[in-house]
Amino acid sequence: MRAASSRFDDKIALITGGTSGMGLATARRLLDEGARVVITGREKTRLDAAVQELAAGDRVLAVAGDAANLADLDALTAAIDDRFGRLDLVFANAGIGAFQQITDVTEAEFYRVVDINFKAAFFTIQKALPLLAEGGAIVINASFALHKGSPGAALYSATKAAVHNLARTLAAELAPKRIRVNSVSPGYTATPAFEAEASEDVRASAVAAVASGRIGTSEEVAAAVAFLASDEGAYINGQDLLIDGGLVNATPAAMI
Ligand SMILES: NC(=O)c1ccc[n+]([C@@H]2O[C@H](COP(=O)([O-])OP(=O)(O)OC[C@H]3O[C@@H](n4cnc5c(N)ncnc54)[C@H](OP(=O)(O)O)[C@@H]3O)[C@@H](O)[C@H]2O)c1
Repeated sequence: MRAASSRFDDKIALITGGTSGMGLATARRLLDEGARVVITGREKTRLDAAVQELAAGDRVLAVAGDAANLADLDALTAAIDDRFGRLDLVFANAGIGAFQQITDVTEAEFYRVVDINFKAAFFTIQKALPLLAEGGAIVINASFALHKGSPGAALYSATKAAVHNLARTLAAELAPKRIRVNSVSPGYTATPAFEAEASEDVRASAVAAVASGRIGTSEEVAAAVAFLASDEGAYINGQDLLIDGGLVNATPAAMI
């Protein structure tokens, strides 16, 4: 259903990792506000299910591929060029959580996490740039973890710090094309990834650490991404926006 607001009429948005969680919610949000949307994911069956759920006909293009694979990214941008001829918005969202003590991280695990959380965002943007229209916007999905040290998050946090730094650097580098680049940093968010990884105990301690007293939703992240990507965010550039219920900046009374 189309919302009353149509901030993204005539806009074309690429969302990597659009088959579930925040990527899927952002696709839904941008479609509701008038955009045409390209979603990606590794498996065709999951993409088919997402397309069915979004129910927006030919306003959705789904392209299967690994966001960290440069040949797949070339195929993705060729498909976008073929169908739409340009892009206005990129949400480099595909990523994974990975939590181990530094002593347990193997070299293979290091590259697995760096590939999807950093390399994928870096080359998604590089490959999308020739299609990205002047005045476009890029948002990268980082994490609250870049603002706060937690045990077991050495590798994950470093990849998220890297993508925020990428956003800041590209905000400067792409300014001549009037392309804004920002990142979002979700806190604990109820997505399939979080639900699969978080035990009852982890969830309870997560809620206890959040000043707002609850886990966030994918829709709340989607609303922030839409704001940053829209003209309402026109003067926001090189920023990271925490969407975390106060997790990083506000200590719950019970924890003092
Ligand atoms: N959930 C949280 O609490 C939380 C907090 C802070 C930050 N984040 C970040 O938010 C982003 C989205 O996470 P989420 O929680 O929404 O997870 P999710 O529900 O598991 O969704 C992840 C998406 O990324 C896609 N993906 C994963 N690896 C990929 C690859 N190599 N190539 C292409 N697509 C790939 C998945 O698609 P397929 O599996 O279909 O390929 C899926 O669409 C991630 O960058 C994550 O680090 C999450």
